Amino acid sequence: MIRSAPSSAKKPSITLHDAREINALRAAGRVVAKVHEAMRQNVRPGISTAELNAIAEDIIRSHGAVPTFLGYRGYPASICTSFNDEIVHGIPSPQAILRSGDIVSIDVGATLHGWVGDSAWTYPVGSISQQAQQLLQATEGALWAGIEQAVAGKRLGDISAAVQHYAESRGFAVVREYTGHGVGRTMHEPPQVLNYGKAGTGMRLRSGLTIALEPMITAGGWLTKIDADGWTVRTADGSLSAHFEHSIALNTQKAILLTTL
Ligand code: MF3
Ligand code: CO
Repeated sequence: MIRSAPSSAKKPSITLHDAREINALRAAGRVVAKVHEAMRQNVRPGISTAELNAIAEDIIRSHGAVPTFLGYRGYPASICTSFNDEIVHGIPSPQAILRSGDIVSIDVGATLHGWVGDSAWTYPVGSISQQAQQLLQATEGALWAGIEQAVAGKRLGDISAAVQHYAESRGFAVVREYTGHGVGRTMHEPPQVLNYGKAGTGMRLRSGLTIALEPMITAGGWLTKIDADGWTVRTADGSLSAHFEHSIALNTQKAILLTTL
């Protein structure tokens, strides 16, 4: 989500979810995971992102779910497809054809019985450069490093710091202007989950907190710009960018992954 300006207003209230609600989020997340399974099978040179969008929308609707992104603030598609130097919110198009050597980030949201699942993955197309491979490994690794810290009793800044450290220690940069978020009956809820920060700071994590953790990492600088379409966010310096996201539910032990099969 877009990083809003810090405000001195009173802290937004955070909704904790019980086991029944987490099951409902898990069911929505499973639909999202099924879409990613199909994306992984269909990502190949020659396919367009519009075709991927159609496949995704079919799967979402066939499970009785609704594409969360479609119509969100006027967004025109069911998934986001962001190539190479595009970071997030790329719009699928019949003209956008995958080519060997590309990396494409696919972000998927599904709402099932009023509960939202949100997950993104960056896929290699054909054979990709060693730098691109390292970027994908660092970004996925940063996500898992953050998930490892997502345990009741720790603090929000522990997650942020782990993500940042994992990416930066491998020579990559963390995008600042977009963040993870709480997820529940709507896609974007408090808290904002930054991908950079200080361990031991921020709100105390509690069981039942449900968040979408989504590091966006670049091979260059972290500044971004938005295309004339008003959606596509890309790196200001043209460097490659990757994006991995899972929705998770916090616990006293390892977080429950909501957006898996
Ligand atoms: N994972 C993205 C986010 O949290 C998905 C939003 S795409 C939009 O911002 F099209 F719905 F805006
Ligand atoms: Co998200």
